[in-house]
Amino acid sequence: MPATHVIAPYPATRLRRLRRTPAIRALTAEHALSAGNLIWPIFVTEVAGGEGEIASMPGVDRLTLDGARRAAERAATLGIPAICIFPHSDRDLKDETCARAWDPDNIGNRAIRAIKEVAPDLAVMTDIALDPYNINGHDGFVRDGIILNDETVEALVRMALAQADAGADILGPSDMMDGRIGALRAALERAGHKDVAILSYAAKYASAFYGPFRDAVGASGRLVGDKKTYQIDPANRGEALRCVARDLSEGADMVMVKPGMPYLDICREVKDQFGAPTFAYQVSGEYAMLEGAIRAGWLSRDVVAESLLSFRRAGCDGVLTYYAPQVAEALAAR
Ligand code: PBG
Repeated sequence: MPATHVIAPYPATRLRRLRRTPAIRALTAEHALSAGNLIWPIFVTEVAGGEGEIASMPGVDRLTLDGARRAAERAATLGIPAICIFPHSDRDLKDETCARAWDPDNIGNRAIRAIKEVAPDLAVMTDIALDPYNINGHDGFVRDGIILNDETVEALVRMALAQADAGADILGPSDMMDGRIGALRAALERAGHKDVAILSYAAKYASAFYGPFRDAVGASGRLVGDKKTYQIDPANRGEALRCVARDLSEGADMVMVKPGMPYLDICREVKDQFGAPTFAYQVSGEYAMLEGAIRAGWLSRDVVAESLLSFRRAGCDGVLTYYAPQVAEALAAR
């Protein structure tokens, strides 16, 4: 304990004094969660009949473009500053070239424009990785079973420029290729998109907690092998910090730790060591775990706010969470 933390011995110190009433507890609360800390990830489908609830994420729907517009209006009303778009693309149009990833009219880019029409002040964040458009479900090009780094980075740059042209405010490279942040930053600068921000999925682990997400975007049956040659081994801490250092040095404006709750130690270290705006992604599997237990009656819904507050306590400036609208509504009703 630092020497500045002087504590008198009992009974001069009775720590329960400051826990006695709601007013005193409110006065001495160290952290708070507000709608302004939330980024809301949504799934937007281009598949006819693709909308509706995701089986492994009860309470979360795939949306049509109209649904995305309504979600954006809801976010704006609730004071949620940003929405993050994930495309659910047509299976029949996925291939090995992934060319639809940088098509200005792909479903992700159409959703950016649709949201900007109805909620111009809402920040729109994207995901940069080839998996929604890749026949084999990987975030990069695959040749002979190998994920190609440099060729993928070139494609990610094209994808990013298409998203920036469509009006994205924050780009979220989630691919974990080497050198992508520097390449994206240079290309954005050259293309006149100097104020488009990069929130790098810097410490992204090869996690089993992404399972329901892959159902949501229709990548589950698709993934050939696993993502362990590019995402971080859950055994590693130093490597995550090196990834964050590297991405910041290449021009990332903000960084993310993903998944969230099982990696709160990493959140704390990233914030302490780098001080940059730090986010955590409470991923699909965390949502499924909490929501499943809540719906079974095994946990009270209070776990949602508690889980999100834990990110704030761990040093995060904000959280990507599927609970964003629900939590913002509850905060507004208080
Ligand atoms: C794709 C991507 C994934 C998530 C966000 N972007 C899945 C993956 O890497 O396989 C996961 C989000 C979640 O589980 O909620 N690059």
